[in-house]
Amino acid sequence: MKVELKIWRYDASTGDRALKPYEVDVSDEATLLDTLDVVKDKVDGTLAYRKSCRMMICGSCGMRVDGGAVLACKTRIMDIVEDGHVPVISAMGNLPIVKDLVVDMDPFWQKMQAVKPYLEPRLDRATEKENIVTQERMDVIHKESLCINCGCCVSECNSMESDPDFLGPAALAKGFRFVGDARDGATVERLERYSEAHGIWDCTRCYFCNERCPKGVDPRDAIAKIGAEIYSEGMLSDKGARHAQVFDMSTRATGYLLETALVPYTDPLKAMDVKFAMQMARAGKVPNPLKPHRARKLDEVRKLHKVLKTQEKDARAQKRAGVSVDREEAGS
Ligand code: SF4
Ligand code: SF4
Ligand code: FES
Repeated sequence: MKVELKIWRYDASTGDRALKPYEVDVSDEATLLDTLDVVKDKVDGTLAYRKSCRMMICGSCGMRVDGGAVLACKTRIMDIVEDGHVPVISAMGNLPIVKDLVVDMDPFWQKMQAVKPYLEPRLDRATEKENIVTQERMDVIHKESLCINCGCCVSECNSMESDPDFLGPAALAKGFRFVGDARDGATVERLERYSEAHGIWDCTRCYFCNERCPKGVDPRDAIAKIGAEIYSEGMLSDKGARHAQVFDMSTRATGYLLETALVPYTDPLKAMDVKFAMQMARAGKVPNPLKPHRARKLDEVRKLHKVLKTQEKDARAQKRAGVSVDREEAGS
């Protein structure tokens, strides 16, 4: 199969960038990584990219195809070119380019380190033998444990684009992997750290990280789970947490979001900004505070609210119980 592709080349010594066209023959089963190997072997040996396992395990071969991050070894080239499309291959975003398709992963690892990506055991539960955790408890962090540190989510994170210090989807997903681990004893410290400036509340919920993650980790969902933990621990000092609280309070009270409470509760200073208030009013965002909307089936909304609160409480109790199966039950 004849394949045409264009690759953004970057020369670190001069800072020059150029979009170069290539045409190679590959088998019908070839992946993008196989195709780059052919380009490097037969056309231009100076092309730089990373690879190792060739089977979606090592996380080395992250790059962009037509502006979206993928693992090159997971991407079938035929799926891209069969309609005559010529793909543009470039380095991942939000990370400095070292050469061609190779990025500097140091900022990625620094953020990983910042979330303490290791178990801090509950020493109050230290036992003579190993702790055994139920499958059910491990299922809570199953998705987050699948991360291969490829950086595809970070590449497409639009919050990181405007704030390079944002912890980002990969590090926060890793954070939840330990927040949700029944054996970990540093939950509160972790939640405090992840809710500081540049932490979870800076996520814009664009969901690009979920869309691009090749392993189904769904980092945005992990961020939401951390948010729920922070909220249930009563850590409401951040505007993001208070914003979530207004949703909680107002849906319980009226079945709707009380927009008149949203700004004053989330950001009291902003609420005193007359110009902003006028803009809100003109946009129809200030309903009569004396006659708030009420959902027709408010009792059902409240029942739903109660079910969710009970579920949250049970999940917290389970987490506090920690390693919840004793050895006899686990059959050891
Ligand atoms: S959902 Fe949040 S973390 Fe994920 S890419 Fe968007 S801004 Fe980044
Ligand atoms: S969360 Fe997904 S996209 Fe992000 S680093 Fe891990 S495996 Fe890669
Ligand atoms: S080469 Fe290892 S994930 Fe692609």
